[in-house]
Amino acid sequence: MKKKVYITRKLPQVIYKKLADKFEVKMWDKTDQPVPREILIEEVKEMDGLFCLLTETIDQVVIENAPKLKVIANMAVGYNNINIQTATEKGIIVTNTPGVLTETTADLTFALLMATARRVVEASDYLRNGEWKTWSPMQLTGQDIYGATLGIIGMGRIGQALVKRAKGFDMNIIYYNRSRKPAMEKEMGIQYMELKELLQASDYISILIPYSSEVHHLIGEKELKLMKKSAILINTARGGIVDEAALFDALKTGEIWAAGLDVFEQEPVNLDSSLLTLPNVVTLPHIGSASEKTRLKMADLAAENLICVLNGEAALTRVN
Ligand code: GLV
Ligand code: GLV
Repeated sequence: MKKKVYITRKLPQVIYKKLADKFEVKMWDKTDQPVPREILIEEVKEMDGLFCLLTETIDQVVIENAPKLKVIANMAVGYNNINIQTATEKGIIVTNTPGVLTETTADLTFALLMATARRVVEASDYLRNGEWKTWSPMQLTGQDIYGATLGIIGMGRIGQALVKRAKGFDMNIIYYNRSRKPAMEKEMGIQYMELKELLQASDYISILIPYSSEVHHLIGEKELKLMKKSAILINTARGGIVDEAALFDALKTGEIWAAGLDVFEQEPVNLDSSLLTLPNVVTLPHIGSASEKTRLKMADLAAENLICVLNGEAALTRVN
């Protein structure tokens, strides 16, 4: 008998076919919205494999409703949407998609940094709104990128890929990471600092750590106060790492200069969010890894992980 797999969103045909050739597959393809939770809970009952996105909360309730489940393949590098402890207790293998999205996410991180520093979105709106009447000396002036100090919080794959980009702009690079990486410091010419010192010294602060409860609101009122008044905060990791209410206050009162956000505490972000009223915030709808090639690679890696585990082989990128 074929094993059963549930896919929580409509996938590109090539990926669907890859799975449907081997398994009895059911896919939530009615809308491009997340599968309603009650349907997910019902569907997982008979499933051997689950292919999911970061929009699904795979908590204890979902997992305990899936007695046959062997593998949860998340199409994302981050897996804070999954209760890993419960999955592990039940002997379920969880996989993610590291590596394939590193360069694409570093590209977007740098794009957001540049857009925020040079007020690209605001300037474009200014033109379209008919406000451009003349060239003037201090009109729409931003911050320089070349020669500035970039503080990277989290020196994982994406952090390292960001270093390469920043080097091309002659930035001075400092980093904070749970474990110090001396070999990398030598090789890449970067300097380690404790978080407090990094926040004080940086012109740009890029957050690139995975989310867990330990780093919830790692950047709050106190941390924002340590930053320079000209500082720019870029978050392309997870929204919960930054206290959004404190960030709003800091941006509003000029405690820091600007922020570029690809991620939010609640996604999709509420359009009434006060952050969206500020001109010095550049917002994106969680598109860090969104290039055509990379999203296909992520879907393919998630599918391969699922196939490996259900075939009794080792997963390619296992997290537990
Ligand atoms: C996207 O945020 C991911 O974790 O892959
Ligand atoms: C994610 O892939 C990271 O290690 O930064």
